[in-house]
Formats: sequence, C-alpha cells, structure tokens
Amino acid sequence: MPALVLLGAQWGDEGKGKATDLLGGSVDYVVRYQGGNNAGHTVVVGDQKYALHLLPSGILSPGCTPVIGNGVVVDPSVLLSELSGLNERGVDTSKLLISGNAHIITPYNVTVDKVTERFLGKRKIGTTGRGIGPTYADKINRVGIRVQDLYDESILQQKVEAALDVKNQILTKLYNRRAIAVDQVVEELLGYAEKIRPYVADTVLIINQALENDKVVLFEGGQGTLLDIDHGTYPFVTSSNPTAGGACTGAGVGPTKISRVIGILKAYTTRVGSGPFPTELFDEDGEKLRRIGGERGVTTGRDRRCGWFDAVIARYATRVNGLTDFFLTKLDVLTGWEQIPVCVAYEIDGRRVEDLPYSQTDFHHAKPVYEMLPGWSEDISKAKTFSDLPKNAQAYVKALEELSGAPISAIGVGPGRDETIEINSFL
Ligand code: GDP
Ligand code: IMO
Ligand code: MG
Repeated sequence: MPALVLLGAQWGDEGKGKATDLLGGSVDYVVRYQGGNNAGHTVVVGDQKYALHLLPSGILSPGCTPVIGNGVVVDPSVLLSELSGLNERGVDTSKLLISGNAHIITPYNVTVDKVTERFLGKRKIGTTGRGIGPTYADKINRVGIRVQDLYDESILQQKVEAALDVKNQILTKLYNRRAIAVDQVVEELLGYAEKIRPYVADTVLIINQALENDKVVLFEGGQGTLLDIDHGTYPFVTSSNPTAGGACTGAGVGPTKISRVIGILKAYTTRVGSGPFPTELFDEDGEKLRRIGGERGVTTGRDRRCGWFDAVIARYATRVNGLTDFFLTKLDVLTGWEQIPVCVAYEIDGRRVEDLPYSQTDFHHAKPVYEMLPGWSEDISKAKTFSDLPKNAQAYVKALEELSGAPISAIGVGPGRDETIEINSFL
C-alpha cells in the first residue's frame, strides 16, 4: 500500500507540480488534500505548458485518477473553467473525483477575502484574493457550504441564509459594501450542480479501498510548510495544513498508511505575499534569481521575493513533516555564480540559533549566518546522473543534504519532465 505525500518544504512554488507530474505515470491516484485555487502548479510536458490551480497535477497522466479530497476548498466556476480549458487542449478529465465533503468557495467568500485585505492596509497578508481564508473560516465556524449541499436545494437555501446573515451585517456596517442577496448566490450555485455531479464521490472510501488493493496513491500538497496555518509563519500563512498531517485529515486516511513523505525543496528560497523571510535579497543577486528562475507567480502574476537557500527552514520542514526524502529543484538556476551563500543558522539578538524559533518576534529579528560554497559555470540542464554534475554542484547538493536532515533523492535541472536526475527511486 504505497502512499506517498509530496509537499512544499518552503513557502510554496518549489516545483510540486513538476514533481507530481513526473511521478504521475507510475501512480494510480493523485489526491489534493488542502488549499484551493490559490495554488499555481506549472507542469511542462514536451512543448506544452500547463498551469493548474485547483486540479491535481495527476490530471495530465492518462492512467491516473485525480482526486479533490475533503480538505480542499472548491470554487465551482474555477473548477469548470479549468476542466474545459484542459478539454480544449485534448486532455481527458473524465476520471476526476471530488469529495462531497469538500467545501465550496462561494462568491461572498471571495468578496470578504478582498475587502478584509483592503481593510488591513499595510498589515495585509497579501492573499491571492481567491476566498481561501474566509471559506476555511466558514468551515470552522460551521456555516460552510459543502459540495453535497448543491444537491438539496432547501438545505442550500438555509445554509446560504445562515452564512449571509452575519456577513451582510459586516459587509454593510463595517466595510460599507452592498449586501449580497441570498437568492442570487443560491441560483448561481445551483447552476453548477449538474455540471459537477458526475465527479462527486465518496473519495475517502475510494482512496482507502485503493490502498487496500495495493494501488499507489500520491497526496499532492499545495502551498508549503512555512505557509501552514499551524506550523508556518503565522499570521502570514494560508488557512490550511499543507504539512504532512494535512494529508490524513484532508483525504481521510490514517497516518499508519503513509509510507513516504517527500519534501520539494528549491535550491534557493522564494516567497510571495507578506511576512518574514530571513534570507531575502534586495540586491542584484535577488534580481538575477528572479530573472533566471522565472520567479513570477502563476496565480496572481506577482513577482516572487527571492533569497538564498535557508537550511534552518529545510531542517524544520524535515522535522514537522517527518520527511523521508527531498526532491531538490531548480539547481540549474544557480549556474553562473562564483560563490553561493547558504544560510546554515540564524543570529538572533547576538545568539546563534540552529532551529527555527517558535517566537514570531525572534523570527523577525533573525539574521542569516552564511557559509560560502563554490559555484559552477557549466550548463547542467542535460545532466542525467549525479556524476554528470560538475564537482562544485555535487558538493552544493551534498552540503544541502547534510544541513537539511533527509536524503536528496532527485534533482531538477530544468522545468521539463525529463530534466531530472533520479538518485533513489520514489516507488
Ligand atoms: P509549485 O507551485 O510548487 O508547483 O511550483 P510553481 O509551478 O509555482 O513554480 C515552479 C516553477 O519552476 C515552474 O515554472 C516550473 O516549471 C519550474 N521548475 C520546476 N522545476 C524546475 C527545475 O528543476 N529547473 C527549472 N529551471 N525550473 C523548474
Ligand atoms: P503553490 O501551491 C506561494 C500565499 C499568498 C499569501 C498567503 C495567503 O503554488 O505553492 P491565501 O490566498 O492562501 O489566503 O494567501 O499564502 N500563497 C502562496 N504562495 N505558492 C502558493 O501555492 C500559495 N498559495 C498561497 O501569497 O502570502
Ligand atoms: Mg506555485
């Protein structure tokens, strides 16, 4: 019963889409377990480039069943437009399964996300504006709308009424916005119901039966460890659990079923939106990483903040996720630097600190302690084995592995499926 979790080890955009797609050909199910269309996963297949937001990256592998688990939040209009976009490009999406317990991002959740951010002003989180936080808030407040509610009109009507009762007070009295009409929301949601119905299923039962029958199931995380609502740089986080435990709750599988947890790790660091980032660069090097790495958000088109590799964060990701392996991505982007700084620890108010501080104040004061590693200038994008890499690139990978606390089992040297060096097999 091989069950693998594949997740982001940093602040998202590590290359999870590419890694999932790479394994897609050998797995039976790819399951998204949290997040929603705040994700932006780029997958390059031959000369075709796909940007997936809500759909699991396994949708591009014909033998694989893609699943949207109960822990995901689903914007039905995004779902349908993403499906039709893929269909127009000849991708068969008929195998998709969606949990009836997944929560729906309603139009009012999107409105609340946007007005709240505006209200926060310079304290804003820098959300993707997709309604993610407000939808998870409704879920926890027990006023959320689930996919299954689309199939009982009177229940849907009651639930939308309950949710808007309070929200309309807030929208009109606090934010000075117009109230949202219950009937209009219900009508819009009902309009999606029949289009989505063929995909709705008891995904918990299906995934567990698959595992009992020795099928290979891959749980694909969105976002990343440091964006986790519990373990990330709160409050500058997303509103779900991208960390490994989230796969259990967000898909309905027990922790004893998980056999491997793979952390996707960029060879440097990026972040989108607000929040602390100790190794962030504001100079030429930061610009160069952004340019060569193409570090621009897939979802919002925002420039990503760029910085050097941070081993404190990687060690933390190993710990909170119980990582068994790393997939190191974008090593090719570092080609051409004479020396590459790697953050091995922090200095916080005069003390050297090896582990991520739990205190937000300490983390805000953290200054990176760098070690300089020698760079390389050879093109590595054609490397197929570890020994094809220049000696200094090999040493860089080995140093990261030692500092991060789990074996690096694959290395990305380009965006394409075949631009990968496999060191240990994942299956
Ligand atoms: P995700 O959100 O974790 O799936 O990552 P994104 O797709 O948002 O961002 C990663 C970007 O890096 C995408 O444009 C990928 O095509 C690209 N990418 C992934 N792996 C590699 C790699 O090893 N080298 C290079 N140069 N690009 C990569
Ligand atoms: P993938 O899956 C990078 C960030 C947003 C913001 C914070 C909260 O492509 O790695 P939200 O809209 O989730 O409430 O925003 O989280 N964020 C991401 N950053 N990659 C992502 O997804 C992200 N999803 C959300 O920029 O700072
Ligand atoms: Mg992304």
